[in-house]
Amino acid sequence: MSHSLFAIHSDPRACLHNPSDTLASQEEAESLFRRWDEQWRRCGYGYWVVRYQGCARQLGFCGVMPMELNGRRVLNLFYRFDASAWGQGLASEAATAVATWAALRVPDLPLVARVRPANIASQRVALRAGLARAEHLDVTGFDGFDWIFAANPSD
Ligand SMILES: CC(C)(COP(=O)(O)OP(=O)(O)OC[C@H]1O[C@@H](n2cnc3c(N)ncnc32)[C@H](O)[C@@H]1OP(=O)(O)O)[C@@H](O)C(=O)NCCC(=O)NCCS
Repeated sequence: MSHSLFAIHSDPRACLHNPSDTLASQEEAESLFRRWDEQWRRCGYGYWVVRYQGCARQLGFCGVMPMELNGRRVLNLFYRFDASAWGQGLASEAATAVATWAALRVPDLPLVARVRPANIASQRVALRAGLARAEHLDVTGFDGFDWIFAANPSD
């Protein structure tokens, strides 16, 4: 998995809006994989690999991780796909499945997505997954100002 992690996160197109996520080497990818794996061991959930059924090729990642947002513990929805797989509805399908899963399995943590204002595709995915704009939660993130989308904006 660390090979697809590196391939996707070293492509400037996939990190255009979030350059702080860019990986510079396979070693960095292995370290990130260990952090993601540790998250699964700690909480029993994290980021999934997305593939076509019956196909080994790893097309992208989608999942949730707990984090602090404005001093509150939330569940952050993440998705990033190989550029060759964009525009086929994969991210919308994966994010919708993860949001549904999170509502059932981690109901205590509010589900949010942090999206850069210029990242229209990501905003569309958040909306398709059932989240809505929550302007009152907007915050400066690792790469600048983030727009927040939330499953329950009034929470
Ligand atoms: C954002 C991303 C996951 C979308 O993946 P995808 O599989 O192409 O998304 P989908 O095919 O499900 O398309 C979702 C919507 O975005 C729209 N869209 C896709 N690419 C777009 C683009 N470049 N510009 C504008 N809209 C776009 C689609 O038309 C669709 O719109 P609709 O809901 O009105 O039909 C993908 O572009 C990506 O991996 N980007 C880099 C990583 C990233 O930015 N992740 C989010 C960090 S917050």
